[in-house]
Amino acid sequence: MELSKPQAMAAGQCLLLLCMAASVVLQARAQPDSKGFITVDCGFTGETGYAGVGDTTVLPDNGEFTDNVGTSHNISAEYVTQSMAKSWYNVRSFAAGVRNCYTLRSLVSGLKYIVRARFKYGNYDGLDLHPVFDLYIGVNYWHTVNISRPEEVLIVEATVVVPDDFLQVCLVNTGAGTPFISGLDLRPLKKTLYPQVTAAQGLTLVDRINFGPTNESLVVRYPDDPHDRIWFTWVDTVTWAEISTTQTVQTLPVEDLYQAPSAVLQTAITPRNVSGNILLTWSSKPTPMDPSPGYIFILHFAELQALPAKAVRELRVNVNDKPWFNFDYTFAPVYSYDLPFYRSQPFQYSSYNLSIEATSNATLPPFINAAEVFTVFPTTNLGTESQDVSAIMAIKAKYQVKKNWMGDPCAPKTMAWDRLTCSYGAVGSHPRITNLSLSSSGLNGDISSSFTNLTAVQYLDLSNNNFTGSIPDALSRLPLLIVLDLSGNQLNGSIPSGLLKRIQDGSLDLRYGNNPNLCTGGNSCQLHAKKNSKLALYIAVPAVLLVVIVSVTILLICLLKPKKQGSMHNSITPPNEMSHVNRDSSLQRLESRHFTYKELEKMTDNFQRVLGRGGFGYVYDGSLEDGTQVAVKLRSHTSNQGVKEFLAEAQILTRIHHTNLVSMIGYCKDGEYMALVYEYMSEGTLQEHIDGSNRSGECLPWTHRLRISLESAQGLEYLHKGCNPPLIHRDVKATNILLNAKLEARIADFGLSKAFNSNDTHVFTNTVVGTPGYVNPEYQTTMQLTTKSDVYSFGVVLLELVTGKPAILRDPVPINIIKWVRQRLAQGNIEAVVDARMRGHYDVNTVWKVADIALKCTAQSSVQRPSMTDVVAQLRECIDLENERSRDESNNGFYTSRSGNDRNISYDSYPTDGSTNVSQNSTSSEMEQSLMRTPTMPTGPAAR
Ligand SMILES: *[C@@H]1O[C@H](CO)[C@@H](O)[C@H](O)[C@H]1NC(C)=O
Ligand SMILES: *[C@@H]1O[C@H](CO)[C@@H](O)[C@H](O)[C@H]1NC(C)=O
Ligand SMILES: *[C@@H]1O[C@H](CO)[C@@H](O)[C@H](O)[C@H]1NC(C)=O
Ligand SMILES: *[C@@H]1O[C@H](CO)[C@@H](O)[C@H](O)[C@H]1NC(C)=O
Repeated sequence: MELSKPQAMAAGQCLLLLCMAASVVLQARAQPDSKGFITVDCGFTGETGYAGVGDTTVLPDNGEFTDNVGTSHNISAEYVTQSMAKSWYNVRSFAAGVRNCYTLRSLVSGLKYIVRARFKYGNYDGLDLHPVFDLYIGVNYWHTVNISRPEEVLIVEATVVVPDDFLQVCLVNTGAGTPFISGLDLRPLKKTLYPQVTAAQGLTLVDRINFGPTNESLVVRYPDDPHDRIWFTWVDTVTWAEISTTQTVQTLPVEDLYQAPSAVLQTAITPRNVSGNILLTWSSKPTPMDPSPGYIFILHFAELQALPAKAVRELRVNVNDKPWFNFDYTFAPVYSYDLPFYRSQPFQYSSYNLSIEATSNATLPPFINAAEVFTVFPTTNLGTESQDVSAIMAIKAKYQVKKNWMGDPCAPKTMAWDRLTCSYGAVGSHPRITNLSLSSSGLNGDISSSFTNLTAVQYLDLSNNNFTGSIPDALSRLPLLIVLDLSGNQLNGSIPSGLLKRIQDGSLDLRYGNNPNLCTGGNSCQLHAKKNSKLALYIAVPAVLLVVIVSVTILLICLLKPKKQGSMHNSITPPNEMSHVNRDSSLQRLESRHFTYKELEKMTDNFQRVLGRGGFGYVYDGSLEDGTQVAVKLRSHTSNQGVKEFLAEAQILTRIHHTNLVSMIGYCKDGEYMALVYEYMSEGTLQEHIDGSNRSGECLPWTHRLRISLESAQGLEYLHKGCNPPLIHRDVKATNILLNAKLEARIADFGLSKAFNSNDTHVFTNTVVGTPGYVNPEYQTTMQLTTKSDVYSFGVVLLELVTGKPAILRDPVPINIIKWVRQRLAQGNIEAVVDARMRGHYDVNTVWKVADIALKCTAQSSVQRPSMTDVVAQLRECIDLENERSRDESNNGFYTSRSGNDRNISYDSYPTDGSTNVSQNSTSSEMEQSLMRTPTMPTGPAAR
């Protein structure tokens, strides 16, 4: 049974060497291609790229990815083989600096990507070493590369969420050899794929196996796998027999989380010994960073044979002789459809015996088509605030700063850039640059406006360089700046008025001595250098005093201020800053509902408190001049494309008003910043109230749930019917329904995806938007979006309200809530689905009816689904019914005492099985039919 896995891998790797045959010479472009792919031949310094697998292009490495750092080498001739693909001929190595990075640009922030780093040492330096070094993805440790043989081919692959519109892969010298790299690949994935990959956790590939083929060197990748995952073959013809089909094997739309390619699923293995099991073994590989890594296994099962009538294929998977889930679970694979088998939480053993067995009922042996094995790694370190990064990158580029300025400026702390100091703040906040000292660095040219974008900087020292030109007044608007040292340069002109004001009010210590061409006498440039320094002296002395006072005040404020959760950084407002605000003009701007970035800063107290994070960025707590609390959704944008669309959309949104839609107060389009300002919903999301993570932790009573359903339905109905053309929400889910202080429901984020995403790169316009578990299956296949897609998602929300469970239940086995409810209701068992936390305080009829509406909303075919108008009408009836019940309840205590009514008693005493006397005989199809036929008559117990 045992098979030496390294052999299989080695065989595959040899083949991979062949895979990148080069012939056609193509124009180089250091950007993703039309599929979002980037393939870099590291160390290859040709002028142009060349063709890779399929229609892909391999880019040359002329320094644009690495800022011209590192050197190119050919590997030694003795390690070059005839069959080897071109991309393994060279490497780029980094002898200088601790951290050196490749930067891949023009990505889509928030999307998932596969990142593949490739290594073949090939004794490129002639030193016959065994280098060991670390790899980081952005600011997070990823993997330690340990080269033990010069001919060895190493491919390290991760799947991660990329938080920014760029990604850095960094090689870190740990003192055990010079880091080098042979190649780098990037492949985009839909957000919904690999749910184990989150903003906080990435996966590193251990194995990706195609079972079945007997040709060891067969590798399946792009174009057979559109995501260009590389599937190796694991061959053991002694133990395993092959099964295969030529028919396409599909993935089920509801559980379409891994998209294994048909070419891989079309083959499988089964034990030659028909009574045997399939045994797969792995041993855990501890690393210094993670002594007991968590493992994720994804197994693929697709029945490849149409089974004869009496034949039974039923499987069970055990891990180290224990069930895969916490209990015994058996399943029957589906003919020509893939059933991915996985757990969301990793296993943590030192070795793994995965055994795939037939159950005692089965007449056929077990089989498996494919498997992926990963280890998890945390990606919780946050990079420096993106505005600071853009600013410091621009500064680095403009002045050609040659220091250790590679990778993220502040993170990880141990690798922060020389010459700058950062504040790290609370967990979950991005580091900020607070001090920047570029004195005596030989810098030329004018003072870049990028310095004025370092909005958290307190000390800025540019002294003793060769700066020319005038002093930008914009520096005076750096809110936290305490010391600005410009002395010892070639600056000319006068000191701008804004800075003079800051000096006078004591909030800034400006040093500008030893600039022979600078005049300090306002407009008249008559004063001589000597007088300048005198003036400087007399301004500087009180300024220093004031700085001390300010610092003490700040210290006191910091000590007295209660610690805010999620605080981005400490905000220090210099005295008198507020006096610059012209209240009238700012009110005028309010009326036109267009905010400047500066106003947002003020509204949010410099983006102090984070309310949440969406796909597009953070949501901040803010308040208007009149004290009204607001939520500010901010997206920082680097490209100008799509700005017009954003503005058009934002203007439409300001005009849409309905009591069940979160109202938009205004928007901001200021430089690269785009933001929407909303009314503040103090009770948070419906999700928090369903899963009990809300502040009070209390369970929502059924009457509230009903009202919330009706209110949300009305909001959606308005989008569909009240707007012309109809507005399709596209992402209806419990986290997009917000509650105000009175627990009134309002739909949020409508039109937002359009407003924010209209300028996403063309590659991804075909990507399904929405959230797993809520997405209309029809839309997934047809890509056609209609109002009925929203109806489907709303049906899922209704089911969550009835059951108190999430859209996809994870325990014990992953199952879609719709299927889960249908299965139980098919047995007439409403008690088995209703949220037990409501302790029976509901009218069974209305619960049935809401479940019924929900199931109609989630009908497979959209024509069978009701419109939101129908849904609203039916929910109104439910509320009437429920009100009747509450009246009864308060009149005679009938339900609360729970006596004198057999039905209710019997419901209470039948927790899960379908043996209640009500609707025992209704099957799911029967029930659906009756629901279709008589929408106002609930299935289930007769009305009282
Ligand atoms: C690598 O080899 C190519 C030809 O095979 C040669 O043109 C090139 O100069 C070599 N590069 C280095 C850095 O030795
Ligand atoms: C690298 O691998 C070798 C054996 O393969 C091992 O002995 C050595 O400890 C490893 N080095 C590091 C730093 O992990
Ligand atoms: C896995 O199976 C092998 C051989 O059957 C056995 O020696 C080993 O102890 C098993 N490992 C675990 C963790 O169960
Ligand atoms: C085997 O089949 C019987 C009868 O169909 C069923 O009750 C039992 O649960 C099955 N056992 C397993 C392990 O699936």
